[in-house]
Amino acid sequence: MPIDKKFIDQFIKVTSKAAFASSFFIGKKDKIAADKAAVDSMRSELNKINMTCKVVIGEGTLDNAPMLYTGEILGTKKGPFFDIAVDPVEGTNFVANNLPGGIAVLAISEEGNLFNAPETYMDKIATGKIDKGLIDLDYPLEKNIKNLSEFKNKDFSSLTVCVLDRPRHKKIIDELKDLKINIKLITDGDVLGSLYVSDPKYNVDMFIGIGGGPEGVIAACALDAYDCHFQGRFIFDNEKDILEAKSMGITNLNKKYELNEIVKGDSLFCASGITSSEVLKGTIIEDDKFVSETLVTHKSSNFREIVKNINLINE
Ligand code: FBP
Repeated sequence: MPIDKKFIDQFIKVTSKAAFASSFFIGKKDKIAADKAAVDSMRSELNKINMTCKVVIGEGTLDNAPMLYTGEILGTKKGPFFDIAVDPVEGTNFVANNLPGGIAVLAISEEGNLFNAPETYMDKIATGKIDKGLIDLDYPLEKNIKNLSEFKNKDFSSLTVCVLDRPRHKKIIDELKDLKINIKLITDGDVLGSLYVSDPKYNVDMFIGIGGGPEGVIAACALDAYDCHFQGRFIFDNEKDILEAKSMGITNLNKKYELNEIVKGDSLFCASGITSSEVLKGTIIEDDKFVSETLVTHKSSNFREIVKNINLINE
């Protein structure tokens, strides 16, 4: 059963309040405190919602995370059954250093429909809506660029590709430079990085590279609602991750996941700005209120909007 539209406002409240809680730590050089404030708030707000909601992507295992741990059940246990992926602060460096792009984010699916992602890296590729088979994680970069350039009828020098600025991406960045592609380097925050492909106003044609697997699954929910293209492959390159993957039932460690294998059926995504970015304004306090912006997607109702909310601080 699709997720009822009535939940949209309730989940907006969850990420808005988490963003507000974390905003007290903007520029305080304390990633852990910024994250903890958002975690506490998110958990308490989620527990007010009439639902039975299982955390499939959270802050880690119960041993490492007392709250929002993978497997935790949230909500009043009186409503529909959902799966949830949370990242109470995505871009902890941004918040700790008062830089653009910190968000509080969550993604919801119907029960059993969201991929339980291990806490490993994921190789990702995302574009806007394209023809099937045109862009593939397994194609050489130049072939993907050529295909996208023909499809969009744009020459190479008008294409922009977003990549996380990491030494592991040197080969990709060098190749893009040689191809005369515009590169948009981001220092963190690949949920927003991949979401740039969802709207021409961000002027990003493709997102590629390796980032967090959980972030990949969360972004996939929004990209699905925008009808975008996304593929991801988890990277298991050490014994611990391989064992974890096997314990989660992943048998093919090399599998490339398509969007519809990461999230099935209906989904709801909310990301509220903590620090301002190209996508969302950060949380601002005005007297006894706080103002937040939330990017919301709800697949079944085709709802894809940035919602501005004014909330009473002491509500
Ligand atoms: P945090 O907010 O947990 O610090 O994650 C930020 C982030 O940039 C993610 O957006 C990205 O997926 C991941 O870190 C990349 O990891 P790494 O910094 O190890 O390359």
